[in-house]
Amino acid sequence: CMTRHYKFNIVSLNVTRLCHTKSIISVNGRFPGPRLIAREGDRVVVKVVNHVANNVSFHWHGVRQLRSGWFDGPAYITQCPIQTGQTYTYNFTITGQRGTLLWHAHISWLRATLYGPLIILPKRNESYPFKKPYKEVPILFGEWWNADPEAVIAQALQTGAGPNVSDAYTINGLPGPLYNCSSKDTFKLNVKPGKTYMLRLINAAMNDELFFSIANHTLTIVEADAVYIKPFKTDVVLITPGQTTNVLLQTKPYYPNAYFLMTARPYFTGLGTFDNSTVAGILKYEHPPNQYSNTKKKLFKPTLPPVNATAFVANFTKKFRSLGNAKFPAKVPQKVDKRFLFTVGLGSNPCPNNTTCQGPNGSKFSAAVNNISFALPTTALLQSYFFGKASGVYTTDFPTNPLNPFNYTGTPPNNTMVSNGTRAVMLPFNASVELVLQGTSILGAESHPLHLHGYNFFIVGQGFGNYDSTNDPANFNLVDPVERNTAGVPSGGWLALRFLADNPGVWFMHCHFDVHTSWGLRMAWIVLDGSQPNQKLPPPPSDLPQC
Ligand code: C2O
Repeated sequence: CMTRHYKFNIVSLNVTRLCHTKSIISVNGRFPGPRLIAREGDRVVVKVVNHVANNVSFHWHGVRQLRSGWFDGPAYITQCPIQTGQTYTYNFTITGQRGTLLWHAHISWLRATLYGPLIILPKRNESYPFKKPYKEVPILFGEWWNADPEAVIAQALQTGAGPNVSDAYTINGLPGPLYNCSSKDTFKLNVKPGKTYMLRLINAAMNDELFFSIANHTLTIVEADAVYIKPFKTDVVLITPGQTTNVLLQTKPYYPNAYFLMTARPYFTGLGTFDNSTVAGILKYEHPPNQYSNTKKKLFKPTLPPVNATAFVANFTKKFRSLGNAKFPAKVPQKVDKRFLFTVGLGSNPCPNNTTCQGPNGSKFSAAVNNISFALPTTALLQSYFFGKASGVYTTDFPTNPLNPFNYTGTPPNNTMVSNGTRAVMLPFNASVELVLQGTSILGAESHPLHLHGYNFFIVGQGFGNYDSTNDPANFNLVDPVERNTAGVPSGGWLALRFLADNPGVWFMHCHFDVHTSWGLRMAWIVLDGSQPNQKLPPPPSDLPQC
């Protein structure tokens, strides 16, 4: 194992997309940001120097951060922001994980331009549990605003309306030929015939789950969120913000006269306006030597499911199973110590019957977990916890069940009470947790991609309507459920997760739609230290930023 050193200089950069030039915040003047590459077992050291006016912080999304919570990154949760002129060095080991993850800024909406791939190769003497690909290609999905994304969310919070939708989706920062004034900004993948490519799909978009497909090519999914799965074939991939999916692309015999679009566009079941445009890249076959054709090239386009294809999504997500072999076992907790039922969804204002309706800035929209819209503290939770200064910062009375009884009827309004709070759940070390996430669909059914920091969880069950605690557990998969760090709570339905709380620290959980996070769909878990020295969270690094 080795140590990999990276330096992130946070600087502004002029970027032109859709005939519109603007200054963005970047890592090292690159958009999207640089690739981090490490092997399983390596230590990764990233020195961040902030040269811009905004505060920053960085999250290594999906890295478990075993006993290294100080380097997890969400601002006001595990650290105070890195202010202008300040430096902070993230330093963590990648233990027991290999595959694709992503890194991104974790403060306000800076993630819109500060993101990049985090690639974990297997240990040097180990191979993939599938055919070694000829080449590996990161494919990052993102969202582009002609405006400054910080202004977009600031305005939304101020007016209480939904934020302005993005102007384009992007593949590796490029919107592609289906947008006006954009054909030169197209991602192109040149492939050789008869080879296997591994595409490392990463959804870094702000507010949209995406369907992805390549015309005339079937994909084989082999890994999700840096965990191997039982491979399966599909023409279309659904990927939520925060999820990563490795797919194998088997190229065909030589195609002299064709190119193939690879496209992505949203899966969306919520209310309001959204960007239903399509980003496209181009897959092209390289010419074998001495073979050249000047016939006009034919363009093939893939078919994507309709925008609200919930049945397709439910079927697709059920196909994911842990590889679960002797080498990569699925360590699903078989017993449960702590049970939680969390409603997740949007709240509305005005509230019926004079119930409390709060949310960020008393806005029209708010979002909540168990009727609590999480207010960020002005200092970091982890610091307050570690130094025993919880008083006035947070409480540990986060409810194990909804504050307002929930009954899914399919028609709003229902359970609209929302109050503000900075509350956490306290978990004993090594507790076996079962967490059911129930989508409330108060304002209309919508899928919420929930992300848990510091852990992977197993998705042991999913369904539509109300979770039934008497009958649904009989159908749980406790053998080979998929293990992930981000999962879409089905639109109008529920997800049942299990994880073992073996990583002490303060861990954020939130909807990976940044607008929902901003509206308060977020909370924190505090996992206590174990009794052995190697089960404790070590003290913070000396350069940990202060608020
Ligand atoms: Cu990828 Cu808390 O985020």
